[in-house]
Amino acid sequence: MSDRSGRQNVIAGNWKMHKDHLAAARLASEVRAACAGSAATVVVAPPFTALAAVAAELQGSEVALAAQNVSAHGEGAHTGEVAASMLLAHGVRWVIVGHSERRQLYGETDADVAPKVQAALAAGLLPILCVGETLAERDAGRAEQVVADQLRGCCSELTARQSATMCVAYEPVWAIGTGRTATPDDAGAMHRSIRAWWSEQYGPESAEGVPLLYGGSVKPENAAALLSDADIDGALVGGASLDVQDFAAIVSTVG
Ligand code: PGA
Repeated sequence: MSDRSGRQNVIAGNWKMHKDHLAAARLASEVRAACAGSAATVVVAPPFTALAAVAAELQGSEVALAAQNVSAHGEGAHTGEVAASMLLAHGVRWVIVGHSERRQLYGETDADVAPKVQAALAAGLLPILCVGETLAERDAGRAEQVVADQLRGCCSELTARQSATMCVAYEPVWAIGTGRTATPDDAGAMHRSIRAWWSEQYGPESAEGVPLLYGGSVKPENAAALLSDADIDGALVGGASLDVQDFAAIVSTVG
């Protein structure tokens, strides 16, 4: 589904490390019912262990399945990793890469994320690449530079052709799980900066088409204001995606 700009409006629920496969299947079934006929592309990202159960629950529905991470490697001796081909076999179509929790808690760097983007694209998955600055970086006036550096690092191997099948989520680290949201003006300004960077690298057509999602304490109360900005094409929702009513309310702000 797309907005006036022709871009897809994507509302993605990042369930993080919540829900075993039984609880995840229940939530997926509720999301399926509550979001039927939505104007947005609705995506849910359960933990790996729940992908099969959620895929079965979403069979034949418009709600798409995402994973929260992917290995940079193909099948092989990589204990604890999951290959893009395995996700695809489960019916996964999207994958979150470079989430700030992976960066902060597990030391993932842009150099780690870049080959994950490539592995995802090579398998036919749509990456949702997460970028965002810390509070100290914002306070120092470096937010746009930090995000541009992350984009450059994570997209170092990306071709212009591949850039047309990407999605970027701007998630200021200080807004994730904190209840503190970027103002629509601040988020919109960052999205314009990301789109300008994208245009410089991959050309105006690719930049016009790339869906830019905002993430960080998105709730039913602030979703409409954020999504009313012409450059905010959707949301990556954490906490509020675990509550079907809240998630459906956010989805319904796209229309
Ligand atoms: P939050 O998480 O909505 O709970 O802030 C967003 C995210 O981490 O993707």
